[in-house]
Amino acid sequence: MTQPTHRGTLNPPAGAKHARIWGVGGYRPERVVTNEEVCTWIDSSDEWIRERSGIVSRRWAAPEESVVDMAEQAARKALAAAGINPSQVGAVILATVTHPYQTPAAAPILADRLGATPAAAFDISAACAGYCHGISLANDMVRGGSAEYVLVVGVEKLSDFTDKHDRGTAFIFGDGAGAAVVGPSDFPGIGPTVWGSDGAQWETISQRDPWTSVRDHDVDWPAIGMAGQSVFRWAVWSMAPVAQAALDKAGVSADDLDAFIPHQANMRIIDAMIKQLKLPAHIPVARDIAETGNTSAASIPLATERMLEQGEAPHGGLALQIGFGAGLVYAAQVVVLP
Ligand SMILES: CC(C)(COP(=O)(O)OP(=O)(O)OC[C@H]1O[C@@H](n2cnc3c(N)ncnc32)[C@H](O)[C@@H]1OP(=O)(O)O)[C@@H](O)C(=O)NCCC(=O)NCCS
Repeated sequence: MTQPTHRGTLNPPAGAKHARIWGVGGYRPERVVTNEEVCTWIDSSDEWIRERSGIVSRRWAAPEESVVDMAEQAARKALAAAGINPSQVGAVILATVTHPYQTPAAAPILADRLGATPAAAFDISAACAGYCHGISLANDMVRGGSAEYVLVVGVEKLSDFTDKHDRGTAFIFGDGAGAAVVGPSDFPGIGPTVWGSDGAQWETISQRDPWTSVRDHDVDWPAIGMAGQSVFRWAVWSMAPVAQAALDKAGVSADDLDAFIPHQANMRIIDAMIKQLKLPAHIPVARDIAETGNTSAASIPLATERMLEQGEAPHGGLALQIGFGAGLVYAAQVVVLP
């Protein structure tokens, strides 16, 4: 095969040798929604919800509080923790499935609010795996030279897309935002990502109807529906091998970890993954779900922030993070904690 002819030689992209997370920040809305309150909408009990999901309470945003508002709070904290000025941010990646505008994306609005203009800014839709997708992209962008610093935000206002009267979902979801700043590094601070998808199972977690049905068929508000048991089985059986593959690719063993930070989907899923990974008992595990619920894209950065703030995980330690959810999609990587 002959090489295509061209008139000149392009400059190759010039990026940093390595990338790492410089800082994280989180935002939890003020309103605490207890299991007791949830049980005023569905036929359930505090005991059942705790036992089946590990959730004690969750946070809900105020009616007028938007995805962008929450993202801004988390982003400002992450930038401050990283010691980075918004003007140094070359790209904003915002992971969400609950920004209520089909277009434009939330990321450019966030970039403008932060004073990061004219940073590249776009949203990604990878549900509960969105943050880990963002970290993977940011790692490649910093090393590929398309941005020096990348702001990655996972944010959800799931209360807007939850049917309060659906026994299968009303108790699970919460609202919140988490952010990380990824930038150049002297050492590899973000390990290889193991990611993938299984679109054949798209219906297991899905908005119940497309917007076009809302327009044409006068259907109910299209909240997110979930086939709980199918998702549970998939998460328990298929995600531990993904987490193990991320460890293998990073060249570390479960014993080397300083923290395990899985998506906060359900406490029983977290416990099953610990078992399957044969995670040594002394390794701290994120259990933010108890007071935060399942905040989809925001869950891993929120849990990370809590572990660092409470001294459960050390700054500079090694953490295995894995996100999985609607798509179905997943992504996992080992990171050095900021
Ligand atoms: C949603 C979930 C907690 C439900 O738990 P489960 O054990 O699968 O519950 P089931 O649907 O099998 O129902 C078991 C029983 O509880 C009852 N039940 C269901 N929802 C209930 C509720 N909210 N309160 C009280 N009882 C409930 C059912 O009627 C059923 O009763 P029966 O045995 O008398 O028929 C669980 O499936 C789950 O966590 N799935 C994964 C969800 C998840 O992680 N999603 C996010 C992925 S990103």
